[in-house]
Amino acid sequence: MAAEVKTQEDAQKMQELQGFITHLDEQEYPHSYLIAVLHKAQDLFRYLRKDVMNEIARLTETPISTVWGVATFYHYFNLEPRGDYVISLCLGTACYVKGAEKVLETLKHELGVEVGGTTEDMKFTLLTTRCLGTCALAPVMMINGKVYSQLTKKKAISLINKLRHTETEE
Ligand code: FES
Repeated sequence: MAAEVKTQEDAQKMQELQGFITHLDEQEYPHSYLIAVLHKAQDLFRYLRKDVMNEIARLTETPISTVWGVATFYHYFNLEPRGDYVISLCLGTACYVKGAEKVLETLKHELGVEVGGTTEDMKFTLLTTRCLGTCALAPVMMINGKVYSQLTKKKAISLINKLRHTETEE
């Protein structure tokens, strides 16, 4: 039985996922095939929901344990919902020495979440990461793929406030 879809938007996304699966050549690389499907699902739904993974198992005729195993093995798959803005603050050595920890405390306080947490309004997820390769600009953080450098507590707060009032693009 097909997984329950909750909204019309969900139904459209599920249809797009189904089309994507149909056009993949699963015979060639069975393992990367499943990874590609999971990536597509994550792009569409922003994280790998249980009902979506069930549907992937059904559509690809793959045991759910295999789908789940791949989804949990790779760190880039999210099994929990994430906010519109995913903040990754670097805690690598250069950033740490230049005060990243103070910025982290400020972000935690400002957002009201711990590392790994998402704000109740689903606007922000706070993560930490290792060296982003821009040590000369330390401390740095990445928000939805964009790097923000030479952070101070004040700069972090002003950035969060600005994003709070900005609509994200899907
Ligand atoms: S340590 Fe943070 S960018 Fe290198």
